[in-house]
Amino acid sequence: MKTIFTISPASGVGIAGLVIFWLAGSAGAGIFNTKHNLGSTGLNAASNFSGTREICVFCHTPHGGDGEAAVPIWNRHLDPNGFQTYDQMGTTTLDARVEEVGSVSLACLSCHDGTQAMDALLNEPGSGREYPGFFNGTWSGQAASVDGRLGPTTVVTNLAKDLTNDHPIGIQFAGGGYSLSNPEGPGKDPDFNRAESDIMGASRVWWVNTEVPGGTTKFERTDMKLYTRIATAGAYVGEPQPYVECASCHDPHVDNNPTFLRIDPQGSAVCLTCHNK
Ligand code: HEC
Ligand code: HEC
Ligand code: HEC
Ligand code: HEC
Repeated sequence: MKTIFTISPASGVGIAGLVIFWLAGSAGAGIFNTKHNLGSTGLNAASNFSGTREICVFCHTPHGGDGEAAVPIWNRHLDPNGFQTYDQMGTTTLDARVEEVGSVSLACLSCHDGTQAMDALLNEPGSGREYPGFFNGTWSGQAASVDGRLGPTTVVTNLAKDLTNDHPIGIQFAGGGYSLSNPEGPGKDPDFNRAESDIMGASRVWWVNTEVPGGTTKFERTDMKLYTRIATAGAYVGEPQPYVECASCHDPHVDNNPTFLRIDPQGSAVCLTCHNK
């Protein structure tokens, strides 16, 4: 209830918006009132895409998604080329391996590198359309053909292709040492808290536990999720290992913390989950 009265009047969507919110509330699971609702019911309806009231479609499609992507039924073109990664900055304190941009980070960057329009999808809503199409409708705020709702590279949300000024991603947790054959890792690292590990489905997964009310030692969405990738060099080369990616810190669907963070960042709780400082 609280959310309805605080958000809807501000977005100016009126009674129709309230009804949609009710309906989308359960299906949207928090994403409805975030900047990741890019359709006409989104937070900034005035500058959102007018062509659809769907939400998930900007990222997922039930059919015709990218079967190669590391993210579920992904509806956007992934382009791993042209990135500058954190290690190219020449920092001497970095001890972990940085892989090329991939995993879930590449999915985030299919919008956040600012090179593709937000409405350029593999499978548009409706029947029989295919990439590279832009679906019917307009962005009232910005030119859809360039960056759509993301804004120019002068805005921080547009990370662009140069990732040397961003927290490292595609980077081994705690300097490496955790792997399929050594899931508990290298023992106590003075710089990092321990990663937890378990088998989920058929895969080995890792995460870092956070302190939240009601939290358990099992993996939850409020824990910092580590993403399994195959190391291309270093110790345990060729084995699945845990990496820090964009969605380690962010869950793109939630509205309970600022900037899609998995936990409340007060007191630098996000940073201190991993770093022992
Ligand atoms: C802005 C992009 C974006 C939008 C919009 C979006 N998702 Fe996602 N979704 C992602 C990404 C990225 C992942 C992968 C996250 C991961 O691997 O942890 C994901 C993962 C998922 C997963 C599997 C993992 C999980 O977190 O449960 C489900 C289910 C899912 N999304 C459902 C939805 C539904 C339903 C909607 C619409 C109400 C939606 N998503 C809208 C980006 C998006
Ligand atoms: C479909 C395109 C798209 C994808 C994919 C996408 N985003 Fe976004 N994201 C946006 C747009 C558009 C905004 C709003 C930009 C603005 O208004 O300045 C945004 C905003 C954000 C913000 C700022 C939120 C705020 O409240 O200021 C964060 C953080 C973010 N995205 C993280 C992610 C992460 C992490 C992923 C991958 C898990 C991701 N996004 C995937 C389009 C996308
Ligand atoms: C190690 C944790 C971490 C990782 C990894 C991370 N972020 Fe963030 N991100 C944050 C935090 C914390 C904030 C909030 C910063 C603030 O409040 O100024 C943030 C803010 C953002 C914002 C909003 C920026 C603004 O000032 O408006 C965007 C967009 C974003 N992240 C996208 C991404 C994308 C895309 C990736 C992967 C390429 C990523 N993040 C990786 C922790 C992370
Ligand atoms: C999910 C775990 C995780 C979270 C959360 C996290 N980091 Fe990191 N961070 C890492 C890893 C892993 C590295 C790579 C360190 C290495 O190998 O030297 C790193 C690297 C860094 C570096 C660069 C070190 C260097 O030598 O260049 C800085 C600075 C940093 N983090 C600050 C932060 C801040 C500030 C936050 C909170 C906004 C944060 N981190 C959140 C895991 C995390």
